[in-house]
Amino acid sequence: MMKVHICKDTEAMGKAAAALFIACVEEKPNAVLGLATGSTPIPTYSEMAKAYQTGVIDFSKVTTFNLDEYVGLAPTHEQSYRYFMETNLFKHINIPTESTHVLSGLAADPEAECGNYEAMIDAAGGIDLQILGLGNNGHIAFNEPADAFAATTHTVTLTESTIEANKRFFESADEVPRKAYTMGIGSIMKAKKIVLLANGAAKADAVAAMVEGPVTPQCPASILQFHPNVVVLVDEAAAAKLTK
Ligand code: GLP
Repeated sequence: MMKVHICKDTEAMGKAAAALFIACVEEKPNAVLGLATGSTPIPTYSEMAKAYQTGVIDFSKVTTFNLDEYVGLAPTHEQSYRYFMETNLFKHINIPTESTHVLSGLAADPEAECGNYEAMIDAAGGIDLQILGLGNNGHIAFNEPADAFAATTHTVTLTESTIEANKRFFESADEVPRKAYTMGIGSIMKAKKIVLLANGAAKADAVAAMVEGPVTPQCPASILQFHPNVVVLVDEAAAAKLTK
């Protein structure tokens, strides 16, 4: 079931999402958290860091798995998702580095990297709470619109729309990696609870397609309609095209 909440602004969205993470870890100190990159979750991570710094939450027993990573970027590359996580969350909280998992952009054997990643998630007991952003084209993680839903962690070729959207972080569109590793739709759907965040007018079409459109791999996020426990947090602008 999908519950949609319209929040006042991105700050309120961040507070609401962080509250879900805090509740999850309070209930289960060794929770497995699924994490995302992109600009959308940054306020959530700031709130989580604040909660740690004020003694509200302890991350020492938590395990994390990130959704995706660019192929070819080293963990020290400023646009790698490992670097993003270190900067925006991990270095501000007390999670041991060995408990944080991000696919390696430099893996020598992509198939083994993806297979091991999927197995590690399963061995950890599965993801308790997964945070998701939303691509302008309806992608989740790096699962791009396609003819079929991908089950497990795999390599993808990024679409022009995603390269365009993400080039703002690179010197030019040419610098954006063309491939990425991503958890599959099946991996994401196995999470016990999901919180998806979207803000801004550029996401309004994707939000409407995800919530009210048909379930189709052409809008990968639409599959979330079939998940038993999804919270969608949006601002007014992203909610503008919802009709119900
Ligand atoms: C990227 C990421 C997604 C993210 C999306 C939206 O391509 N792989 O996980 O949700 O784009 O990014 P943003 O939050 O910056 O709009």
